[in-house]
Amino acid sequence: MNSTPQVVEPEFTPEVARVTASVHERLKDIIPDVEWAVHAPYIAAINRLKKELNAVLLVHNYQTPEIYHGVADFVGDSLALARKATEVDADIIVQCGVHFMAETTKLLNPDKTVLIPDLEAGCSLAASITGADVRKLREQHPGVPVVSYVNTTADVKAETDVCCTSANAVEVVESLGVDKVIFTPDGYLAQYVATQTDVEIIYWEGACEVHERFTGEELRDYRKSYPGIRVIAHPECPPDVLNEADFVGSTSGMINYVGEHKPQQIVMITECSMSDNVAVEHPDVDFIRPCNLCPHMKRITLPKILHALRNKQYEITIDPDVAARARRSVERMLEVGR
Ligand code: 13P
Ligand code: SF4
Repeated sequence: MNSTPQVVEPEFTPEVARVTASVHERLKDIIPDVEWAVHAPYIAAINRLKKELNAVLLVHNYQTPEIYHGVADFVGDSLALARKATEVDADIIVQCGVHFMAETTKLLNPDKTVLIPDLEAGCSLAASITGADVRKLREQHPGVPVVSYVNTTADVKAETDVCCTSANAVEVVESLGVDKVIFTPDGYLAQYVATQTDVEIIYWEGACEVHERFTGEELRDYRKSYPGIRVIAHPECPPDVLNEADFVGSTSGMINYVGEHKPQQIVMITECSMSDNVAVEHPDVDFIRPCNLCPHMKRITLPKILHALRNKQYEITIDPDVAARARRSVERMLEVGR
């Protein structure tokens, strides 16, 4: 007789309270006690299972604080996570981020098991362009090299000369030593790069569904409501937003800005978990927190991470021919600035 196995969810016990006490202490100002009692058993179970399985968790800066501070082995922006993926000594890597990040990790670790806790964790930028679209762009602009943001599928990376992230886009474009490049798929990042270089940028008009919602007017309103506030923004935002910002940078660039400048009051124009995560490290800084959530990043939860480890799901696989070509464009990116 077929019977569905019972899923045993972990419970809050005195032992769980003891092993998670230090994380609880750090997060007590942003996670209420009732909520902590739900998260703590998962944090304890994940950290135990990670050791048993020789697994590591690569966690993007947009993950929620209980993941970012509770179970991560490495946190960072897309570039830092890609670099870390080349150094990881583990049998299993769990990517707590979105699908393109897990694919990048798999490209760099073809012999390791790379898991993502929810296969539906996508990205509007990655969904905006296909490999066939890139081939068409090449036909329209013969001989012009293609730079693609890492926020793309492996199929697109396979048609790309070199990848970039928001942290190194200008450097990558300039590293090619040409006067013109095709840049995909983020039209706003492309327009921002064009303001920072003399290289002509032909761009695709994809957009991040989180960052495209911010407006310059919203930023001017923050300045009126909070005189003296520092406004920092991610380059996936539209040009009128970036024109109003005191600083533009990748997610890690924004985190470093807070550490270096220690402003009294700041607003980070990006996904909303960032401010929660950074506020834990900087209790003296007042964060004004607009909340634009990335629905894809938020698909990753502690219960799904635990199930991913227990069931070795969901494994990332990439067609070997696509993987070989895609890997080259990621590795070329990692060579830049090395
Ligand atoms: P970063 O590379 O700045 O972390 O950005 C990734 C991303 O998806 C931002 O929306
Ligand atoms: Fe993609 Fe935007 Fe979400 Fe980043 S925040 S994963 S770019 S949809």
